[in-house]
Amino acid sequence: MHTDWEQHYRDEHTPWDKGEPAPPLVDWLDTHPSAMRGRVLVPGCGLGHDVRAIAGSDARAEVVGLDLSPTAVKLAREISPVNGERYREGDLFDLPEGMLAAFDWLFEHTCFCAIAPDRRDDYVKATWVALRPGGELLGIFYLDPYDDEHQPGGGPPHGCTLDELKERFEESGRFRIVSTAVPERAYQGREQRECLVRMKRLEG
Ligand SMILES: C[S@@+](CC[C@H](N)C(=O)[O-])C[C@H]1O[C@@H](n2cnc3c(N)ncnc32)[C@H](O)[C@@H]1O
Repeated sequence: MHTDWEQHYRDEHTPWDKGEPAPPLVDWLDTHPSAMRGRVLVPGCGLGHDVRAIAGSDARAEVVGLDLSPTAVKLAREISPVNGERYREGDLFDLPEGMLAAFDWLFEHTCFCAIAPDRRDDYVKATWVALRPGGELLGIFYLDPYDDEHQPGGGPPHGCTLDELKERFEESGRFRIVSTAVPERAYQGREQRECLVRMKRLEG
């Protein structure tokens, strides 16, 4: 699958979009009521299903969905808003001043696997920069996405391993991994292919 995300949205070719929030996020919000509060950033939010799930879990959460694609942001804004959710068009790697050290939480889901692997250290830095000291990152990392051989044109492009995540995030000195788990529920076809990782932002 090519990575001209704007073109995918224009072509209405968005196989990653399941029309509902990620089941591991829904379950996590149920089992950790009001834990994800304050300002929350969701990079690569697409149409914002996860943004709305977080915003709906605690009316006090200020959830901001960020996406590179103007069409995705436009479509996300057209869906009935939940509490104070907001959307912003922009690049995670080039955050504006007001989004630096600004967030209590960052929720990752299918953004990490969408960026080129040679930018993964930049991703670690960008998420660290967005979070305030002591902030937390919760990620559903898609470790083993379908490749073109198994689902032509279907899956997100870049898988990774849990060891790589540990190495990149912890060895950067910017994050400490608090917990990892294979989610009990997943979108159909993603069972056992994801890892739910909770991390704390360090001083760095
Ligand atoms: C595979 S899609 C997943 C979208 C959404 N998380 C979902 O599950 O429906 C990856 C998304 O990341 C966005 N994206 C890719 N690189 C980005 C960047 N540097 N900054 C912000 N968004 C980015 C794309 O536009 C796309 O919407």
